[in-house]
Amino acid sequence: SQGHDTQSTAAPAEQKSSKATKTKAQKESESSEPTSTAESQEEPTPSTTTLTKKQKRQQQHQYDRPKKIANKEPTTEAIIAKAKDLKKHREALPIYTARDIIIKEVKENACVVIVGETGSGKTTQIPQYLLEAGLAAHGTISVTQPRRVAAINLAKRVAEEVGTPIGQKVGYSIRFDDTSSKDSLIKYMTDGIMLRELLSDRLLLRYSVIILDEAHERTLRTDILFGMVKSIQKKRADMIQAGRRDIQPLKIVIMSATLDAEKFSEYFYNAKIMYISGRMFPVKILNTVEPQSDYVDSALVTAFQIHQDEAPGDILIFLTGQEEIESLEKLIEEYAVDLPPTVGKLIPCPIFAAQDSATQQKIFEPAPHGTRKVILATNIAETSITIPNIRYVVDTGCHKSRGYNAKIGIESLLVEPISKSSARQRMGRAGREAPGLCFRLYTEDSFDQLDEDSIPEIKRCNLESAILSLKATGIEDPTKFDFMDRPSKSGLLKSLEHLYALEALDDTGALTEIGKKMAAFPVDPPYAKVLLQSEKMECTKEAIEIISLLSVDTIFSAPSSKREEANEARQKFMSLDGDHLTLLNTLRAYESVKGDRDWCRENFINSRHMRHVMDVRKQLIEFCERAGMDPRKSCGHDLEIVLKCFLAGFFQNTALLQPDSTYKSILGGLTVSIHPSSTLFGKKREAIMYNELVFTTKHYIRGVSALESAWLSQAAPKYFGNRHA
Ligand code: CDP
Ligand code: MG
Repeated sequence: SQGHDTQSTAAPAEQKSSKATKTKAQKESESSEPTSTAESQEEPTPSTTTLTKKQKRQQQHQYDRPKKIANKEPTTEAIIAKAKDLKKHREALPIYTARDIIIKEVKENACVVIVGETGSGKTTQIPQYLLEAGLAAHGTISVTQPRRVAAINLAKRVAEEVGTPIGQKVGYSIRFDDTSSKDSLIKYMTDGIMLRELLSDRLLLRYSVIILDEAHERTLRTDILFGMVKSIQKKRADMIQAGRRDIQPLKIVIMSATLDAEKFSEYFYNAKIMYISGRMFPVKILNTVEPQSDYVDSALVTAFQIHQDEAPGDILIFLTGQEEIESLEKLIEEYAVDLPPTVGKLIPCPIFAAQDSATQQKIFEPAPHGTRKVILATNIAETSITIPNIRYVVDTGCHKSRGYNAKIGIESLLVEPISKSSARQRMGRAGREAPGLCFRLYTEDSFDQLDEDSIPEIKRCNLESAILSLKATGIEDPTKFDFMDRPSKSGLLKSLEHLYALEALDDTGALTEIGKKMAAFPVDPPYAKVLLQSEKMECTKEAIEIISLLSVDTIFSAPSSKREEANEARQKFMSLDGDHLTLLNTLRAYESVKGDRDWCRENFINSRHMRHVMDVRKQLIEFCERAGMDPRKSCGHDLEIVLKCFLAGFFQNTALLQPDSTYKSILGGLTVSIHPSSTLFGKKREAIMYNELVFTTKHYIRGVSALESAWLSQAAPKYFGNRHA
């Protein structure tokens, strides 16, 4: 059984059926791991009279879900009234007592490091304090975030608190979505956008204060930004010293949720560190007695256990990604139906990036009386976003982190154990408003074996985008950049080599015209190369479409109960050339029925993901237009061209069929297996190209298309020339 020690483990009513599904779910994940189940909750159920019992339950449940709030623009009066309401909340935050001292320190110092418990009010309040103190007089106050969802959510909240519609005084800017205007005084943005802005505004003159938030996360981009803003601050100071009266000084504020702030302080010329104390109630930790083989199933059981045994208060479950979140959401809905009538409803509330903001706002609204919310989130709920009323935390002990294997030269997202410091942050979410409980779905021994802190991304990841950005901002030798932590020399060299093979760098290591264009594209270098190549090959329309389709995990939905029907439906769109063109066929069919929901349901297409695809496509079209390309250039029916075009960016992701019928990657000679979700699964083709490689029990490749091996040397002469000449 679940077996949390010190816990009277009264099994939930449906423990038996839970076991049954566990086996089912496990079978599934064995047959097609890594599994992708994503049936949109928005799909209406068929309105026939021959519903199965389960369908009826689901229909009933969907009917019970809160209706979407109509998207009406609030009136000015309403906005001002809301801000007045929120004033009390603002003044009750722990950070409020430190308001004056924060303003004073920022005014008097060039750099300040502020450390404060998550939820104390750093991200939402400090920019407002600085605004109120007149620090936006000579430029915008910017706040950078590692995550898009957090940037949007926090900007909206602050706009409400300031009392103006989003996009005016307070705005946000993320890839593919910019609400900020020239008049924005506070702007939330992803660190990626800030890096891109650097390309056109080398001294970031439009900003008076740059707040680097979530510094403890040490993402690659935040690390690069650290170095960039540090040098910009110095340049601006030097110019002022030299008598330039049109230049204003730049203030830097570093914000972090963890205590290890000395490193930031040292890096920023021994900047002053301010500690904001938060409020924290005791949280009792319950480890499992046995290691759990399937943490999603384990989280499911634990959630129902809490729901039936514990006092009111919402549950927060930490998972690793959207697919997992969606599958647990479904499981909870299925099991919630079997709860005894005396027990209130358990309402799952997922939070992830590809989600509209009305749905997302729901997680901040209180659960209806007598019910309990269970928030399903990734790391975002660890320190970026604080959700009220959480009393129970379920910590799976895992997260997805970017990893880079410099030897075989591939980038991948891996599910990995978190650090002790992350586990403590997660635990802390349960004790913000009252004493809480933290259920760790791993043993105490496993906790002891976790790393103290996670390794900064720059030491682990693919550096190509970073190098392109550095080069484009005039830093010629990235190996000499003022990194807080130096990336490995071999990693840097590998990336420089790949960029050379992509023709982004020339023989001397300088940025080429292609490289300059690639640096400005809002996608990773290989995709940028595909887009540039598509102009020459006259298939920009198709390239944009396929890249958009690849921007979601999958456009197909494969509900566990209807896997065969789903596979059959997919045959209609199948291209013998593989997944890229199958995706394209599906998009064409979707467009021909104008995205009809019923059609999507009948054909097992995830309409929510599909709408996201259409949105990305729109953004990419606009981007290409701005870059002077014609996004409508099409290769018509000659789709072979499109595959050749993709090869220009993905020649490193290729494998050749071996005499023993396995595939071996050209780079690194790794044996790779085609993922069961691929149209080429079980098929033998002379050469293949793939979009991503995932490590599970095998090296699985996803997004696979067939090639002719003769195309390889044409696609990347610099790369294959060296090897096969
Ligand atoms: O940055 P830090 O973790 O210190 O706190 P914050 O993000 O500024 O959050 C301060 C408070 O605002 C918390 O109590 C949040 O719950 C609340 N908040 C909210 O109610 N709704 C949002 N959309 C964002 C924050
Ligand atoms: Mg924050």
